Amino acid sequence: MKRMKWRHILSAEQFNRNSIDYLFDKAKSIKQNPSLYNKILENKVMAKFFYQPSTRTSFSFDIAMKKLGGHVISTENARVFSSVTKGETLEDTILTLTTGLEVDVIVLRYDEMDGAKRASKITTTPIINAGDGAGEHPTQALLDLFTIQEELGRLDNFKIAMIGDIKNSRTVHSLAKLLTLYKNVDIIFVAPPEISLDKEEGQKTVKYLTKHGARFFYSNDLERVLTEVDVVYVTRIQEEYFTDRKAYDKVFGKYILSPKILPADKVPIIMHPLPRKGEITFAVDSLPQAAYFRQVNNGLYVRMALLSLILGKN
Ligand code: NCD
Repeated sequence: MKRMKWRHILSAEQFNRNSIDYLFDKAKSIKQNPSLYNKILENKVMAKFFYQPSTRTSFSFDIAMKKLGGHVISTENARVFSSVTKGETLEDTILTLTTGLEVDVIVLRYDEMDGAKRASKITTTPIINAGDGAGEHPTQALLDLFTIQEELGRLDNFKIAMIGDIKNSRTVHSLAKLLTLYKNVDIIFVAPPEISLDKEEGQKTVKYLTKHGARFFYSNDLERVLTEVDVVYVTRIQEEYFTDRKAYDKVFGKYILSPKILPADKVPIIMHPLPRKGEITFAVDSLPQAAYFRQVNNGLYVRMALLSLILGKN
């Protein structure tokens, strides 16, 4: 298979089926035999610069880099713990890390849309978008897609419901875009009207899905939708993007996945990018279809594969 060339990872829009197959094959080989890869990024340095909190994405990138033999330096809460607090721009920060300090890759989580794109305009050092406000989260979408393939055994011919804060969830925006690459995929969005995909931040995704011929629908009947889909992707209501507390309270808790609303005969695969805040009850965790912690594990291998393809000699 042809080697895929990436410099930056900015958006789900940059991938095609071939590049995803190539990446997933790599992730599977690493998962099967990680020790073969434990020195391939020796002497490489990853700078992780996060303007927003993170547990999974942050640790996942750290561990992925370390398991490949590389080094990690990082700043969490960059608006407080870095010179951003003194007023330094994103551009100056990126030039400091690249031209100044010669890091090999930057993993950036920014708090506004297109942060990673801005960074990529001023450097040839690879920039990986680890979330840009309510915009995109392409590496999460790749690990989500990898999980669907592992759990369902296919990426064509299936139905997926995406539930919760569809407007503000960058993971939803990126995953929905990736799904347009596959045949016969129906996406059903289930969200309170205030945070549905056709509102503000979501509109870019609606345009993209329409342009790429995606089959997507809206519903507010969660119980019925659960009987129709193969996969359900639940998201947290993204409190940090609400300016009005009352508006948040109005939509919080509207759709909750619990064993009692799941169909008795065929339970869909249950996914969540995490963290959850009550939208999947703990009682769901013991079902074999609850895939969200396996999703986290897959993320490690998908990120190892990405880093090795971006920085390695393979
Ligand atoms: C998500 C994110 O940060 O966008 N989490 C993640 O990266 N796994 C989802 C969220 O914060 O709800």
